[in-house]
Amino acid sequence: MAVRYNADTKTFILETKNSSYLMKVSRYGNLLHMYYGDRIPDEDVDYLVVLADRGFSPNPNEAGNDRTFSLDFLPQEFSTSRSGDYRSPSIEAVWGRGEVSCSGKVAGYEICPGAEKIEGMPGLRLMPGEKGETLIIRLEDTVSGLEISLSYTVFEEKDVIARSVRVTNRGEETARLEKVMSVTLDFMESDFDLVYFSGRHLMERGVRRIPVSDGIHSIGSSRGASSHQYNPFAIVCGKDCGEDNGQCWGISLVYSGCFLIEAEKDQFGQLRVNGGINPQGFSFLLEPGETFQAPQAVLAWSGRGFTELSHIYHRIFRENLCRSPYRKKPRPVLLNSWEAAYFDFDGEKILSIAKEAADLGVDLFVLDDGWFGCRNNDDAALGDWTENREKLKMGIRELSEKIHDMGLQFGIWVEPEMVSEESELYRRHPDWCLREPGRPAVRGRYQLVLDLSRRDVCDYIIEAMNGVLDMGKIEYVKWDMNRSIAEAWSALLDRNRQGEVLHRYILGLYYVMDQVILKHPDVLFCGCAGGGGRFDPAMLYYQPQIWCSDNTDAVNRLKIQYGTSFAYPVSTMEAHVSVCPNHQTGRITPLNTRGIVAMDGVFGYELDPTRMTEEEKEECRDQIRFYKKYYRLIAEGDYYRLTNPYENRYFTAWQQVSQDRKKSLVSIVITDREGNDAQRYVKLKGLEADRFYRIEGWKGKYSGKLLMSAGIPVPADLTEYAGIQLILKMA
Ligand code: GLA
Repeated sequence: MAVRYNADTKTFILETKNSSYLMKVSRYGNLLHMYYGDRIPDEDVDYLVVLADRGFSPNPNEAGNDRTFSLDFLPQEFSTSRSGDYRSPSIEAVWGRGEVSCSGKVAGYEICPGAEKIEGMPGLRLMPGEKGETLIIRLEDTVSGLEISLSYTVFEEKDVIARSVRVTNRGEETARLEKVMSVTLDFMESDFDLVYFSGRHLMERGVRRIPVSDGIHSIGSSRGASSHQYNPFAIVCGKDCGEDNGQCWGISLVYSGCFLIEAEKDQFGQLRVNGGINPQGFSFLLEPGETFQAPQAVLAWSGRGFTELSHIYHRIFRENLCRSPYRKKPRPVLLNSWEAAYFDFDGEKILSIAKEAADLGVDLFVLDDGWFGCRNNDDAALGDWTENREKLKMGIRELSEKIHDMGLQFGIWVEPEMVSEESELYRRHPDWCLREPGRPAVRGRYQLVLDLSRRDVCDYIIEAMNGVLDMGKIEYVKWDMNRSIAEAWSALLDRNRQGEVLHRYILGLYYVMDQVILKHPDVLFCGCAGGGGRFDPAMLYYQPQIWCSDNTDAVNRLKIQYGTSFAYPVSTMEAHVSVCPNHQTGRITPLNTRGIVAMDGVFGYELDPTRMTEEEKEECRDQIRFYKKYYRLIAEGDYYRLTNPYENRYFTAWQQVSQDRKKSLVSIVITDREGNDAQRYVKLKGLEADRFYRIEGWKGKYSGKLLMSAGIPVPADLTEYAGIQLILKMA
């Protein structure tokens, strides 16, 4: 059984294939977090908690004269505020006459088959035939009437525990929630590092590793989207943890809005990690009988370093999250018009690009921004989802049909959450955007944000998007979101509910996506927020692939995709070959390298093939043939980061290995060269040690053991920015 309660020791035990997670009911009914790590036998772990009379650590009244029982240092599963625990709490709420104390005592539990359904938000699902159970523990505060349900779905075979929290007001008065974390993870020690993923527009998900030290280190977003700046994913790891060794714990939030992940080292050298909706500016009113649902957090543990942790996340996100039929289907190779034409096109130009794209072997043509309303620049027309017949005289239907006649599928760009002041929609409904009364709205890319906390606005967007999808034969939608949200005030909510706006916006977005997908279940949705500004598991539930970054420079992409790969599989990262000099950095890299780097993702192009030489076109045809031939290996093989681009300035290498270990693809890109250079080697991973492999185009065969221990020489004739792909096959 993946979930058990041992009544003798009052311990809840969650077990996955390789990990155990233990909680214990304290003698006064508090829920203590006892252990999360390597799978252990069923034993009483009570001895792990050492009680002591610590100065200035208060004791709950029910402890009587026992001065050794204090929530100030006990490891807790969900920490309530003003209860004598001075670490950052899991919940903060106000009720009655302004009281804020809360004490969550275990009041009951349930073990149910299947996965927890997260109301109104995405979550992991169990696939048919897959084993999994959910434990729900009910904590009660009898004075406030707040009931906190902690839920744990155990994905036994996948080594994952998905947590979430629901708060119900069982009292008689309105309560105001000010902080509700989806996960609190207490460690009794703190000799750890924190790894997180930070960046900016055009340079997302850089890898940062810092020691956990006194105080609180927090990452998060207040931008209304999960953001370019921080990703809702973090890792706590031992000092010695590396790619292939050491303990690490992953925390991933299935949420696309403002989030917080905080790591606090307390005065006794213990660590607390909290993750959930960002409390900054957040509040949520709960009337008697109402329930608040927090987003899901996906937890994983590995005793063998980051690679194994990544494999756990890759597998669960690939198989148990994405709900599109494309979950298992190969993704089409696409050509996107953005860097090919920007706003400067007409129907004929688009058709000539598409014709060349078809000739290259591309499967799908995507018409990016600029096809609707009076959109000739980024300063107008968002909200007016009607065709621009001046630009596209033939209209979307005819265009899409002509493109289909070329043997291509057709896709289109939209940015449904936004409105331009220069638009029909804005003229009709100036009150539909987020802004505060009496103040001009903050602009971003000249645009304002529609108030998705309003049902009428959501319904308009659903209708508009269904309208777009019915304009022609459309198989793919790039769903963009091109600014950070500033104001969080909605015209339809009361004064004391304005703290709900940003969360309600996200719920509105999920509702919109749900409805549009329901009507168009077979369309492939690609997420985008100025590239990777909303690259999170919740969006991946709706949109199986996300435009990884607006930065298409192959060398910058090495770092961006490296960081992204810690949590997200290759099948989620859209990556395109673009022209050189690169439009974002001016760098010139070989077409071959651009292809290799874009194949470290969902492969495509973003250039004008009518401007390519015959030689370049032939090279693209080869790239597409190669990608299609090895699609399963690339998209579903186990992924290994062979180098760390932050440490190795000379080359970056990565590898995919098929599940049966018979095939592997090794990719290497040279990032710097020196005269009369050292011979460098790269050690391979994931092969069968005692089997032999041939490397295509190389002489001889070598044991997996040798290739993994001594490695292979990086071909010395590769000049700066050159790259190579090597196919290995078991002999
Ligand atoms: C965003 C996207 C780009 C492109 C433009 C169009 O920046 O990330 O890929 O679609 O919008 O305006």
